[in-house]
Amino acid sequence: MKRHPSLQPLSREHHRALLCWRELDQQLGMRRGANLRTATVALQRYWSSRFSSHMADEETLLLGLLSDALRSRLLAEHDTLRSLFCSLDDTLDSNGPLAIDDLARLAATLRAHIRWEERVLFPHLQSQVSTDELRLIGDRLRGRKVSEDAYCDAFDDNVSSRGKG
Ligand SMILES: [Fe+2]
Repeated sequence: MKRHPSLQPLSREHHRALLCWRELDQQLGMRRGANLRTATVALQRYWSSRFSSHMADEETLLLGLLSDALRSRLLAEHDTLRSLFCSLDDTLDSNGPLAIDDLARLAATLRAHIRWEERVLFPHLQSQVSTDELRLIGDRLRGRKVSEDAYCDAFDDNVSSRGKG
């Protein structure tokens, strides 16, 4: 199903998060320490610069349109991601060793959550929510003060620092 224009800003943020996820997932597969940390930092930076707000925006704009079951799942998965990123923040702030199992759980949780939103939640909204309500969501998303450079900064830093390594 083609994404409704009103939801495209959220889908673009999913895509950017998945680019960070892919880099981390590849590094987890190779188990190389230096690049693993770089990929982890890039994902954490995207989280702090944009994706944490992205989840708050979804809760503000979408929760009221959802059934109890969908609302519960969205909130539970967001809570899990917040908890996982919070503990990753602590690890990176203290320059502590990266726990492979924790990173793998974070990566898997993030990917599964985005996949569910893109494959189930957003198609559901597009088929169940009125055109006026979708337009209102789009207006509010466009009204956000979002730095479109946030992701690029994190990703460019990631690529350039890998080039130096
Ligand atoms: Fe999302």
